[in-house]
Amino acid sequence: MDNINDILKTLEEYLKVNKPKYLYNQSFVPGISQVLYSGPYWDEREIMAAMTTFITGKWVVAGENVHKFESAFSKMFGTKYSHMVNSGSSANLVLIAALKKYFGWKDGDEIIVSPVGFPTTISAIVQNGLKPVFVDIEYKTLNFDVKLIENKITSRTVGIFVSPVLGNPPDMDFIEKLSIQYNFKVIGDSCDSMGTKWNNKHLSDYYVASSYSFYPAHHISTGEGGMISTNIEELKKLFVSFSWWGRDCYCVGSANLLSCGTCGNRFDKWLDTYDGIIDHKYIFTTMGYNLKPMDLQGSIGLVQLSKFEEIDRKRKQSKSTIEAIVLNYVLGLKGVTVLDNSDTCWFGTPFICEDKILKDRLVAFLEVNKIQTRNYFAGNILLHPAYEHLDDYKNYPNANDVLNKIFFLGAAPHYDNNVFEYVENVMKTWKN
Ligand SMILES: Cc1ncc(COP(=O)(O)O)c(C=O)c1O
Repeated sequence: MDNINDILKTLEEYLKVNKPKYLYNQSFVPGISQVLYSGPYWDEREIMAAMTTFITGKWVVAGENVHKFESAFSKMFGTKYSHMVNSGSSANLVLIAALKKYFGWKDGDEIIVSPVGFPTTISAIVQNGLKPVFVDIEYKTLNFDVKLIENKITSRTVGIFVSPVLGNPPDMDFIEKLSIQYNFKVIGDSCDSMGTKWNNKHLSDYYVASSYSFYPAHHISTGEGGMISTNIEELKKLFVSFSWWGRDCYCVGSANLLSCGTCGNRFDKWLDTYDGIIDHKYIFTTMGYNLKPMDLQGSIGLVQLSKFEEIDRKRKQSKSTIEAIVLNYVLGLKGVTVLDNSDTCWFGTPFICEDKILKDRLVAFLEVNKIQTRNYFAGNILLHPAYEHLDDYKNYPNANDVLNKIFFLGAAPHYDNNVFEYVENVMKTWKN
């Protein structure tokens, strides 16, 4: 039997030549390959990092590699603390649960949010006993119309949940000003906006805490995975508690093996109601979940972060090129507005059609020509069975038009000149 390092080396050589099927098709064949809207920007390095951790690492579940990834992530995106979970949706759930506990929000307190976006931004509010208060969108950035926010503020408003549309933020200065004037928190769903800057600062600078997704379509991917970041240490401890069964103990990786734990008092008199020594590992301060990632996801994340500058640059390039090509051939179509202070890192390339007829024709044309399209997610979430009880969808006319008029193409970092040339050749055959 070969030594394990030789086996891993052989596997690496194999993977350089034999790409797994789930990797975005890197040798694009015009007319045969699909122009996928996104996919993991991986090569053999991510797979080798995962395999090496799985085979030779010390931890199956969140351990040393997750911990390293969290630290590197905080450093890259400018927050003090980051905590990895198993998805962006889990990140939202834990984020709101922790904020509610930390700030002492009551059931029924209100969070302002757009009715158009990803469902688990809104479900996290409801699942934590808070009330989503919707603000209709505008047709420039497609975010909630910041001019309408003030009308929706009440004595119970505790926060606003900002989820920049496909990476492109609303006026963050205006939101910050309102939050100071009315004393509520600005919370970020950064699942689609990793890397976006406002006034040359990370968006996380404007948020009390924010969530990220590492699902394959997103800026970086760990397969499944998510992150929650903040500058507040106590909040970070609550993130750990809510996602690790509700327990109080926050030892990670080899700290789990310390006889006295990270706190130094593992065996102590932790409970007022129990007159004796108890193990900190089994003290429960929140009613939590199990939303932990595996350690191999942390090692994939570390490789992905090392590519982030390249991903950021390529996503911006893909968006501007795809947008310019398509707008050049289609009448009645617009791109979205990028506000002056934003340096947007795109999740996709959004388009606004003048009417439903154009959207239906154009989407069908692109799909037939193997160019993948996506709706802007659910459209108005209040149209959907699980959400219709939250408010009357008729109050949000702009949101109701999203399914009629909006779609997006990819802004994937994988696109190269072959892809751009193919899209251009397809668009040349479009008939207005
Ligand atoms: C804005 C936004 N929030 C949350 C999520 C959920 O992330 P995940 O798929 O990792 O659960 C997504 C998913 O695409 C998203 O786009």
